Amino acid sequence: MATDNLKIPTVALGTWAWGDNGETGNGYFGSRLTQADLENVADKAHATGFSLWDTAMVYGMGRSETVLGQVLKRFARSDYQLSTKFTPQAAGTGDDPVANMLEQSLTRIGTDYIDLYWIHNPADVARWTPHLIRLLKSGKVKHVGVSNHNLSEIQLANQILGEAGFRVEAIQNHYSLLYRSSEHAGILDYCRKERIPFFAYMVLEQGALSGKYSPENLLPSGSNRAVAYNGMLPQLKTLTDELASIGQKYGAAAPDVATAWAIAKGTTPIIGVTKPHHVDGLVRASNITLSSDDIAELESLANAAGVNTRGWWEREMLV
Ligand SMILES: NC(=O)c1ccc[n+]([C@@H]2O[C@H](COP(=O)([O-])OP(=O)(O)OC[C@H]3O[C@@H](n4cnc5c(N)ncnc54)[C@H](OP(=O)(O)O)[C@@H]3O)[C@@H](O)[C@H]2O)c1
Repeated sequence: MATDNLKIPTVALGTWAWGDNGETGNGYFGSRLTQADLENVADKAHATGFSLWDTAMVYGMGRSETVLGQVLKRFARSDYQLSTKFTPQAAGTGDDPVANMLEQSLTRIGTDYIDLYWIHNPADVARWTPHLIRLLKSGKVKHVGVSNHNLSEIQLANQILGEAGFRVEAIQNHYSLLYRSSEHAGILDYCRKERIPFFAYMVLEQGALSGKYSPENLLPSGSNRAVAYNGMLPQLKTLTDELASIGQKYGAAAPDVATAWAIAKGTTPIIGVTKPHHVDGLVRASNITLSSDDIAELESLANAAGVNTRGWWEREMLV
């Protein structure tokens, strides 16, 4: 019953880091991002054909959506797709907290529809999923997906939407060389079988797999990602060195290979881009076809790193 087909790109663009407060330089990522910086990122993305932007109300508690909306004003609405989320933990107390949160997102972004609207996590699948039906019927939301859901939660959401003639049209879970729980829990196979696009988030583990950060060059001090990853950077060195070395064969860099790995696994990576040159990396990643030997070698080194990068907001996927 969806009005048009969701256009699935090779790579989508993530804007969680855009929610950081640029003035103080602190926050989840510790990034200093001005609107001018982000306009340059968006210009590069537009010029190279990457046009699906992922955000959420809770990224910087509205700041990511606001900045994204301002930056995208320079383009026609039909030139890009917007993906944002309902986060159950931030729901208000009105009659329809999902519709209310959507309205606030539309206002902040400055648009009258969202291409892909997500339930951010499975806090209460039976309670929140039905709210999506009215939003789909209103046309303010074109397509819906679920994020951080395990297989049985995805199936329940699909059943609820199915009873109204809709379906789960996309899945968005943490999936990287270091965190393959959705693969091990059968979610990737399910998506392939049901032809549901799987969006992989944190493919670069918030920069820890980019090769830029190391025990000598730690993630930004005082940021949440520094707390999560700095302690494991020594164990990641062999893997990031191999990403760089495989990259040399393809005229690419370490993060491009990590992204190409996620593409090779049949997923659509959502990469958190904060600089124009990151978009150049996405162009390279989209053109790399990794060999099965490359993939096996990377997965073996990732397993050997022996780290667990599950986010504090995530539950185990295995049922
Ligand atoms: N649904 C959910 O629960 C959920 C959870 C997490 C994320 N997400 C979505 O997924 C997106 C991606 O995740 P993420 O942003 O947390 O992490 P990520 O994509 O794994 O990493 C992003 C960081 O990697 C670095 N980076 C990106 N491209 C690079 C390149 N080509 N070369 C070198 N470094 C590069 C940047 O760090 P520097 O800025 O330090 O250079 C950037 O901040 C988010 O933005 C969000 O849209 C969704």
